[in-house]
Amino acid sequence: MSRRPFIAGNWKLHKTVAEARELIHELRRELVDVDVEVAVAPPMTALDAVRQALEGSSIHLAAQNTYHESTGAYTGEVSPLLLADVGCRYCIVGHSERRSLFGETDAGVHAKAAALLDHGLSPIVCVGERLEEREAGRALEVVLGQIEAALEGLALEEVVVAYEPVWAIGTGRTASPQDAQEVHEAIRTHLAATHGPVAQRVRILYGGSVKPANAAELLAQPDIDGALVGGASLQAATFAPIVKSAS
Ligand code: PGA
Repeated sequence: MSRRPFIAGNWKLHKTVAEARELIHELRRELVDVDVEVAVAPPMTALDAVRQALEGSSIHLAAQNTYHESTGAYTGEVSPLLLADVGCRYCIVGHSERRSLFGETDAGVHAKAAALLDHGLSPIVCVGERLEEREAGRALEVVLGQIEAALEGLALEEVVVAYEPVWAIGTGRTASPQDAQEVHEAIRTHLAATHGPVAQRVRILYGGSVKPANAAELLAQPDIDGALVGGASLQAATFAPIVKSAS
C-alpha cells in the first residue's frame, strides 16, 4: 500500500506576518517538483497572509489548534468553520504542548478531530509518551490509549496521525528509527483492529527533533509516512532538505 509522503511544519509561536511571508517565498523557491505533500502551520495571526502567499502553490495551509464548536460565546477561540474559511486544509490537534501546558484532554482531542472532519478539514492527531512512561516500559500502552480515545468512532479516511515522543520534542533527542518504527507499526496494527483496512491508508508521521541529518533514515521506515517538524521548519534551509528527503 503506497501512502503519499507528508511533511508538515509546525511553526508554534514564531513568525510575524512579514517573517511568515518571507519564509513562504523561500519555500516556494526551494520546493519545486517535489512529489511530497507539504503543509505549514503558522500562528493564527499569519494564516491569512500565508494563504495569500501560497496562492498557486501546492503547499497546504494548516492551523495549530481549534475549538470544537463552530460559533458562539467562546472568547478567544477559533473553530473549524473559521479555519476552513481562511483556507486551512489541516489542523494539528492534541500536540503534547497543548496537553501539558493548556490542559488538553483525550476527550477534547476527540471532539476537535470530529469537528474538523465535519467541516472538511483533516486533523493531524498527535500522540506520544513522556520519558518516564517510556522508561517504565509503558510507551505503547500510553500511545495506543491516546489513539483509541482520539479516534474512536471516527472515519479515518481524512485523518493523519503524528507520533511524537514527548521527550524528543525540541530536545535534540530523536527516537531511533527502529524504536519509532515499532510504535508506528503498533499504531497501524491497532487501527486495523478498530477501523479495518483503511488503516493501511492512514499516514502516520513521526515528530520530535526531525532535522535534515536524521530525516532520511526515519522516513525510510516502512510505517513512517512523513514528519511533523517543529524547530527545523522555521527556516527554508532546514525544512526544504527534510521535504526533499521524503521524495
Ligand atoms: P521539534 O518539534 O521538531 O522542534 O522537536 C516537533 C513538534 O513539536 O511538532
